Amino acid sequence: MVEVSASLLSAKEEEIVKIIYNLEVAKADYIHIDVMDGKFVENDTSEKMRKYTESLKNVSNLPIDVHLMVNNVEEYVKEYIDIEVNCITFQIESCKTEMEILKQISYIKQNNCKVGLAISPKTDIENIYKYLEYIHKVIIMTVEPGKGGQELIPATIEKIKALNKFIYENGYEVDIEVDGGINEKTAKKVIDSGANILVAGSYITNSENFGEAIKNIKGL
Ligand code: DX5
Ligand code: ZN
Repeated sequence: MVEVSASLLSAKEEEIVKIIYNLEVAKADYIHIDVMDGKFVENDTSEKMRKYTESLKNVSNLPIDVHLMVNNVEEYVKEYIDIEVNCITFQIESCKTEMEILKQISYIKQNNCKVGLAISPKTDIENIYKYLEYIHKVIIMTVEPGKGGQELIPATIEKIKALNKFIYENGYEVDIEVDGGINEKTAKKVIDSGANILVAGSYITNSENFGEAIKNIKGL
């Protein structure tokens, strides 16, 4: 069953409470929070996304799917554990050693939060295989991390297929979340390749009817 994680990155700040309400009515499965520190990527959304997440906790019951695009993973993991979100995913490229990755994974799980690893377009998918037994999801970035409204990079489709095959052959229970450039056209391609959670930002929040946009992505 395909689920949709609606990203707030392209949402108009002055309308955020109404947008969150409308996403809940439109039956988004998760709210996707894109945390950027201005170092791992040029954009800095850290303050805005912390405020969004705190207001989300007050106005909505939707599960919160945090995507960290930061250099200091430990600092932001602690910040979002304190806000009691549902899942924290960090970029595999943020950590220098395997030990650091495993340390953050176990810290997140010890604090009753689901954990994911995200992988940028240029990073080989094989780099994620050794962590699959410890994590709940992989976010395959289908655009360069850092901003919304980009086109999906076609070469990333093969990474989805390869990961899906490896998960199936090894019997892992890991969600494949795809993030970037998702619309009604690209959604079908990534679902057919094995993705089961689709992140969509601009396609939904720029649309007139969030419910229709989400149905289109799910292929309903
Ligand atoms: C990009 C973010 C994505 C982005 C998706 O760095 O991780 O979640 O917000 O936005 P769209 O759907 O507009 O590509
Ligand atoms: Zn994201």
